[in-house]
Amino acid sequence: MSIERVGIVGGGQMGAGIAEVCAKAGVDVIVHEINDELADAAEARVLKSLARAVEKGKLDGDAHGAAISRLRFESDLMLMADRQLVIEAVVEDERIKTELFDHLDRIVKAEDAILASNTSSIPITRIGRATQRPQSVVGMHFFNPATVMPLVEIVHSVTTSDETAAGAAAFAGDVLGKVVVHTKDRAGFIVNMLLCPYIFEAIRMYESGFATKEDIDAAMVNGAGYPMGPLTLADLIGNDVMLAVAESLHAEYGEPQYSAPPLLKRMVEAGMLGRKTGKGFYDYT
Ligand code: CAA
Repeated sequence: MSIERVGIVGGGQMGAGIAEVCAKAGVDVIVHEINDELADAAEARVLKSLARAVEKGKLDGDAHGAAISRLRFESDLMLMADRQLVIEAVVEDERIKTELFDHLDRIVKAEDAILASNTSSIPITRIGRATQRPQSVVGMHFFNPATVMPLVEIVHSVTTSDETAAGAAAFAGDVLGKVVVHTKDRAGFIVNMLLCPYIFEAIRMYESGFATKEDIDAAMVNGAGYPMGPLTLADLIGNDVMLAVAESLHAEYGEPQYSAPPLLKRMVEAGMLGRKTGKGFYDYT
């Protein structure tokens, strides 16, 4: 199946980034948000990023216009009916995701359509179970910023069919030009299982007063070759996402290195989610 019509549910930082990548790759994209105001905000997010790409000389005027013409921002989920691939990128809340997949199952018409989740922490098997077609449900895990990071993890649940996984992988690799890796459906997949305990340790180190946040970040950039330090990265990913990943890793493996540092919980409770709220480990206001 050649995928030409994609739906993205959720126009936050991940959904907007994925939508932009799809539109630039020549695919017709509908981005769904829960109301018109949020749909407008998602549109503004993508337009700003596309304009920045033009400014930087990464996109010419024609490609910019073409990408915009392929994008629609809507609040009516029924518009997902004709989509061949829907990628869900809503909040990391299992109840919200399973309800959404139940709706998508009833709305998306094509029997061979792929229903994908960009979740970083919720088992794809549980999301698939909310539908009558768990064989068509797969994980497509993008990385933040989605417009820049080359990787997509294709997550095979115990019920995902080989055709669905192959279709999702071909779309991510051949159409979007991403690097594709395959993983089974266990918490953290490949990247988060390795990356998140490292970030949690950095938060514990900072919380205990062992070193300043600036020195922890500077140490890992200059001593270990990371593009950004762990606390700056937590702010980029979003501290709410980090907490959701910690809870899921800890529930799955029960090991202390996966537990959420208390400071991370307090910061999320205080709305210090990182760049997206203007405050996290650092101040972005
Ligand atoms: N949003 C969108 N684009 C951004 C951005 C942002 N917040 N920050 C930077 N960029 C873009 C820039 O526009 C630029 O794009 P072009 O090359 O097309 O011009 C590119 O990134 C490089 O930017 P800069 O030169 O300004 O900055 P940099 O060299 O410091 O790179 C970075 C920025 C790409 C974010 C780099 O620091 C990096 O790779 N950081 C690590 C990111 C990472 O590890 N992401 C994975 C997180 S884990 C995850 O997402 C999974 C999960 O489930 C939690």
